[in-house]
Amino acid sequence: MNPELDIIENHPLDALNTMALPARAEYFCRVNNCADIQQALEFSRQRQLPISVLGGGSNIILAGNVSGLVIQVALVGISTEVKGKDTVLVSAAAGEVWHELVLNMVAQGYYGIENLSLIPGLVGAAPVQNIGAYGVELSDCFVSLEAISIATGEATHFSARDCQFAYRHSVFKAEHRDVYIITSVTLALHRQAKVDITYPTLRAALDDQVEITPQLISETVCRVRREKLPDPAIEPNVGSFFKNPVISQTQAKQLAEQYPDLVTYTQNDDQLKVPAAWLIDKAGWKGVRRDNCGVHPQHALVLTQFGNATGGEILILANHISIDIKQRFGIGLEMEPRVLGG
Ligand code: EPU
Repeated sequence: MNPELDIIENHPLDALNTMALPARAEYFCRVNNCADIQQALEFSRQRQLPISVLGGGSNIILAGNVSGLVIQVALVGISTEVKGKDTVLVSAAAGEVWHELVLNMVAQGYYGIENLSLIPGLVGAAPVQNIGAYGVELSDCFVSLEAISIATGEATHFSARDCQFAYRHSVFKAEHRDVYIITSVTLALHRQAKVDITYPTLRAALDDQVEITPQLISETVCRVRREKLPDPAIEPNVGSFFKNPVISQTQAKQLAEQYPDLVTYTQNDDQLKVPAAWLIDKAGWKGVRRDNCGVHPQHALVLTQFGNATGGEILILANHISIDIKQRFGIGLEMEPRVLGG
C-alpha cells in the first residue's frame, strides 16, 4: 500500500523556479512514483482543481500565485539495455536531472547527448520543448516516452512520431498541453564513436583536438555555456527567453541589405533562423535594466532579475522588447518559457 501522499496547502514556489520569482501554489505535492501520481490526480478530481506540472522550474515564469494543485515530478531511476553492436537504449525517469543523465551516459562512453550538457531542468521536461543546443536536439536520439493522462489516470505510450517534434516544440506544447504527466523517456544512444561538431561555436572551441570523445565534447560545451550563460543559482534566469525566429529567405535578404552583419542559420530551402540574441543586441537592449529586471549584459537572450522582481515585471520587459523588435525588424518574437499563475 502506498503511503498517504503529502499534499501541502499554500506552498511557496520561490525556490522552485530558476527566475526566483515569488509565488505560492494553492496545493503542492512531490510525486515519487506512479501511485503517488494517481493519488494526486484523485485529490484534484475530488476538488475539481486544475493541475500544473513542475519539473526543474527552469523554463517557467510565475506571473503570480498558481491556483489548483502543483505537482512536482520526483520519479528517479535510469536503466540501460544494449541492442546490437552499436545501440544502447536508455530509459530515464522524468524526475532525473537532465545534466546528471548526460554525465552518466558520457562516463559510460555512450554517444548522442553530450552536446546537450548543462541544459538545466529535468528529463521529463526535455521532450516538451525538444531541448536543443550545439547542433543537436533531443529528437535526434528520442525513441519514446511514457505518460499518464491527467483526465483519466491512464498510462500512455508516445513514439517519436506521436510527439511531433520541431524546433523547441512538441505536441505537449500544442494539443496535448496540460493533458499528460510525462513519467519516463527512452533514448537510443550509440556505443560507437559518432559525434556532431558542426555547430560553429563548438567546432571553434574544440580547436585542433585530435581525439574527439563524448567527454571532450561535454566538457567543451560546459565551458562554452559557462562563459556565455549566467548561472541561475547566482543570477536568476530561464536560459533563452525567446525562440530564435524563423524568417523567409526574401525577408532575410532585405534585412541583410540594411544590416550587413546579420547572422542567420539555414532552416530549410525557403527559410532561415535568425538569432533572437542578435536582434535584441542590435536593438540596444543588451545590459538594459528596467526597475528590478533587465537584459543580461553577457547574453542578450537572457533576462534576469535583481532580487525583488515579480513575474509581471519580467513579462512587461519582455513585451517591450518584442514590440521594439517587431517595429525595427518586422520580426515577431515568441517567448520560450511557459507562463504559470497570475
Ligand atoms: N549574439 C549577439 N548578442 C548576444 C549573444 C549572441 O549578437 O548577446 C549573436 C551572435 O552572433 C551569435 C548568435 O547570436 O553568433 C547566436 O548566439 P548563441 O550561439 O549564444 O546561440 P543562441 O542562438 O542565442 C541557441 C539556443 C540555446 C543554445 C545555443 C547553442 C535558442 C532559443 N537558444 O542560442 O539554448 O544553448 O543556441 O546551441 O534556440 C535555451 O534554450 O535556453 C538555450 C540556452
